[in-house]
Amino acid sequence: MTSLYPVVLSVHVCAVILSGSYFVIRAISALLGATWPRARPFRTASYLIDCVLLMAGLTLVVILPAEIFANQWLSIKLGLVVLYIAFGMAAMRSSLKLHVRCLSLIMAVITYTNIVGTALLHHPLGWASKWI
Ligand code: HEM
Repeated sequence: MTSLYPVVLSVHVCAVILSGSYFVIRAISALLGATWPRARPFRTASYLIDCVLLMAGLTLVVILPAEIFANQWLSIKLGLVVLYIAFGMAAMRSSLKLHVRCLSLIMAVITYTNIVGTALLHHPLGWASKWI
């Protein structure tokens, strides 16, 4: 199982990059008035990428020894993922005011950056752990 680690990690990281950049492109396009980001094929592509990301993440949790998660960085990371999804959904919601959607997009990007920080540093505070 451990021999799968490099492959699964690469799949996870590729899905992370794809998911983040695809979200930003869709959200900015939707904010500028484009209708394609809400069309079914583009939404389905987003679900598929996120599904791969989640599956690879869960597989990593199974592969890696439990001691790696001892300081709860993964729990914090999963909490941030939920927050990221909520901000992402708000940024795409046409019924919300434009300034609320812009703010949601900014918050989603900040949250995403912190998810990457927690994952890379294995620390619940993410990038903030460098200064605190
Ligand atoms: C937006 C969502 C996510 C982002 C941006 C993200 C980002 C990352 C990044 C940047 C890494 C580090 C890769 C490296 O060390 O080179 C990583 C590793 C990892 N992620 Fe995620 N991830 C996300 C979602 C998830 C989810 C949902 C899970 C679990 C269900 C998960 C579990 C893991 C695990 C276990 C590792 C391995 C850490 C290690 O190799 O030491 N991730 N993630």
